[in-house]
Amino acid sequence: MRHLIDPMDLSVEELDDILTLAEKMYENPEKYMDVARGKKIATLFYEPSTRTRLSFESAMLDLGGNVIGFSSANDSSVSKGESVEDTVRTVGCFADVIAMRHPNEGAPKLASMYSPVPIINAGDGGHNHPTQTLTDLLTIRKEKGRLGNMTVGLCGDLKFGRTVHSLIKAMSRYEGISFVLISPEELKVPEYIISDVIKPAGLKYEEVTSLEDNMGKLDMLYMTRVQRERFFNEADYVRLKDSYILDDKKMKLAKEDMIILHPLPRVNEISPAVDDDPRACYFRQVKYGKFARMALISRLIGLDV
Ligand code: CP
Repeated sequence: MRHLIDPMDLSVEELDDILTLAEKMYENPEKYMDVARGKKIATLFYEPSTRTRLSFESAMLDLGGNVIGFSSANDSSVSKGESVEDTVRTVGCFADVIAMRHPNEGAPKLASMYSPVPIINAGDGGHNHPTQTLTDLLTIRKEKGRLGNMTVGLCGDLKFGRTVHSLIKAMSRYEGISFVLISPEELKVPEYIISDVIKPAGLKYEEVTSLEDNMGKLDMLYMTRVQRERFFNEADYVRLKDSYILDDKKMKLAKEDMIILHPLPRVNEISPAVDDDPRACYFRQVKYGKFARMALISRLIGLDV
């Protein structure tokens, strides 16, 4: 039985296989509309979500399967004190696969040690978000036609942004990637990402504070929200929240074929005026996410596709 807790749980070959299947599903969804008949996914969300939960549920429904779960710990026996271990042992009696989001780093990993069915990490604290990474990689492949040989800018809250950590891990395995890490000093990427991921891969990287000065060199810009829910202190959040705002003026400094991704939700870091720019991929990215999750579910529960 396989789980997906960290993006590195998948080899590059497995990742490419999932992305290829997702592309086939995107091109020809009717072919897959009944392949999971009789199967169920449980979405156990201990933290709020719009895209990830609804995307998992749409993915299973579009495969012909069914959905159970809770969207808040308050709606389940978690509110009576039930542990993650007991919760997944219970839900594993009803479902074929479980997608779990939890505010505590490592909770989905713990769940995987007790679950009778595959666990998918749908985001754990500020740690990892591997299915957002599948979404991001599928978006880059669809929009740029490749996953290697590009300069990748990541901008905003690189400290608490779990999507950033997972994407850097996954992209570090492709040829010719260089990273431009754009953040305020206080929100720099955690040191382990540099020492354990980027440096061992022998990749070029720079840590900078100015978005304007670096726009022109980027092939892809990954904007992120400052993660209010991870701050200990509201004053620090207020001081840092508008550190970067991508607007039309900054877009004039970018390459004609640069793409903009954002895991969403957006707060103030991309001006709505940018949404109509053909380089803005973030709403197409949401759509790709459903197909990435359809492919992942299919592989984890062993569908014949
Ligand atoms: N990208 C993402 O994880 O969005 P949600 O928090 O809405 O699921």
